[in-house]
Amino acid sequence: MPKLKPSKGAPYARILGVGGYRPTRVVPNEVILEKIDSSDEWIRSRSGIETRHWANDEETVAAMSVEASGKAIADAGISAEQIGGVIVSTVSHFKQTPAVATEIADKLGTNKAAAFDISAGCAGFGYGLTLAKGMIVEGSAEYVLVIGVERLSDLTDLEDRATAFLFGDGAGAVVVGPSQEPHIGPTVWGSEGDKSETIKQTVPWNEFRIGNVAELPLDSEGNVKFPAITQEGQAVFRWAVFEMAKVAQQALDAAGITPDELDVFIPHQANERIIDSMVKTLKLPEHVTVARDVRTTGNTSAASIPLAMERLLATGEAKSGDTALVIGFGAGLVYAATVVTLP
Ligand SMILES: CC(C)(COP(=O)(O)OP(=O)(O)OC[C@H]1O[C@@H](n2cnc3c(N)ncnc32)[C@H](O)[C@@H]1OP(=O)(O)O)[C@@H](O)C(=O)NCCC(=O)NCCS
Repeated sequence: MPKLKPSKGAPYARILGVGGYRPTRVVPNEVILEKIDSSDEWIRSRSGIETRHWANDEETVAAMSVEASGKAIADAGISAEQIGGVIVSTVSHFKQTPAVATEIADKLGTNKAAAFDISAGCAGFGYGLTLAKGMIVEGSAEYVLVIGVERLSDLTDLEDRATAFLFGDGAGAVVVGPSQEPHIGPTVWGSEGDKSETIKQTVPWNEFRIGNVAELPLDSEGNVKFPAITQEGQAVFRWAVFEMAKVAQQALDAAGITPDELDVFIPHQANERIIDSMVKTLKLPEHVTVARDVRTTGNTSAASIPLAMERLLATGEAKSGDTALVIGFGAGLVYAATVVTLP
């Protein structure tokens, strides 16, 4: 048997740059109240959300990704041709094939980077980051772009009281590259497919296409509803609060970091009450900066962590070199947590 040459990668990887894109249209809770029986006060107190962004026709998944990626590439101080991999995490790109990652790689001017999409719901950023780190250490790419992007407004049922106010649109991107020191800790990740029904698409595309009106959900005017994301809010809330705090702690332990040594906490931006509960369970000290981007961005699924990271750095609430715990969790159910050094 011939002996194969081993691949040669960097010893470690780190995030070198971050960028975000938020759609121009800001949507306050008042707009959500046009279709559901609720109140601004209820939405703020139960979720923390005050406004979210909704994309217009030009703000496509690809267009928002290119904007966010351009900023991340500039922030990393590299050129697009140096990027060897583009990973796009999304659940709201409507073209099944080809992957939107190839279009984004081309528009950015990468030199034929390997490009693919992944579907890991609100854990998508952590999944992408873990793959990127593996590619760099394994040697199949020197720099990898990880993009989380969603147009969840396309998949929101505005007449559903349980979800209408939650979701938003946007794109966040990071450039991951080689490092001589570990700056992305071990990932603690996994799935609980036995709970897959707790967050799901209301109707699969094939059933929607067949259009059997007798079995499809109808809106208040009797029209067939477009498929949307639905969830069992309380079940997801409980799971997030009890199980995800444990996963976050495991990620700290795996990285050999105590809460005292942490500078920043960037959990998935799903609900501010979930964030508060995790902060309490993890006993994070006062000095730890906690991302609360959900207030003005809503839940943007795979985009939420890089968007929150970008905002903390842009506002000066966090700084380059800070040690941050990131954790994403959602549809699947899936989760991914790790400790990173901020770019
Ligand atoms: C969606 C969510 C904010 C709802 O909050 P909640 O406190 O669980 O609300 P409940 O569904 O228990 O409903 C509580 C009450 O508010 C009412 N209510 C529900 N939605 C409402 C709305 N939009 N406006 C006003 N009242 C509402 C309910 O009817 C219920 O009334 P009752 O007590 O008289 O029966 C919360 O469950 C949540 O955030 N879940 C996790 C969501 C999430 O993170 N998902 C993504 C994970 S990636």
